[in-house]
Amino acid sequence: MIALTAAAVLALSSSIALQDGAAPLEQEVVSTSSGALQATLYDLIALKHAVHQEHWNITGSDFYQLHEFYGELYTALDAPIDEVAERLRALGQPADGRPAAVAQKSGVSAPPADTRAQEETLRALAAAYDGVRTRLYERIGNTGGDMPTQDLLIGTAFMLDKQAWMVRSHLQ
Ligand SMILES: [Fe+2]
Repeated sequence: MIALTAAAVLALSSSIALQDGAAPLEQEVVSTSSGALQATLYDLIALKHAVHQEHWNITGSDFYQLHEFYGELYTALDAPIDEVAERLRALGQPADGRPAAVAQKSGVSAPPADTRAQEETLRALAAAYDGVRTRLYERIGNTGGDMPTQDLLIGTAFMLDKQAWMVRSHLQ
């Protein structure tokens, strides 16, 4: 166990922001984490909506299997969406999940409002997952000053990597 001197404790406590019960982090760290979390929230909500859209409009001989598979994917995305939004609140920041803001600010392209063949849906979703994961890994690298946020983003990447593997496996 590390014993801190009184001076060290004072120095540590004066460098952190503990406002209204928010996490004890420096303001600069909170700012970096909030940006990473909000951008991830936009991406995750847009990804969920894209998977749900494909769930409805997919056509092809494997319709039922893929329709059910997409249902599992978007349902599982609810948990990280909620955790990411609530981590923003724990940092004393608002969470923005408004549809118009998601459409404008996420990096995920919305699927067409039309039916499309199963292979097209798989390729589009594989590309959407790749984009979301690439951006998420960058944010993980930038959030080392806030380990709970970094841990949440790592857990989210773990889930998205697994889902992306399952999507891609249908194309091999
Ligand atoms: Fe459904």
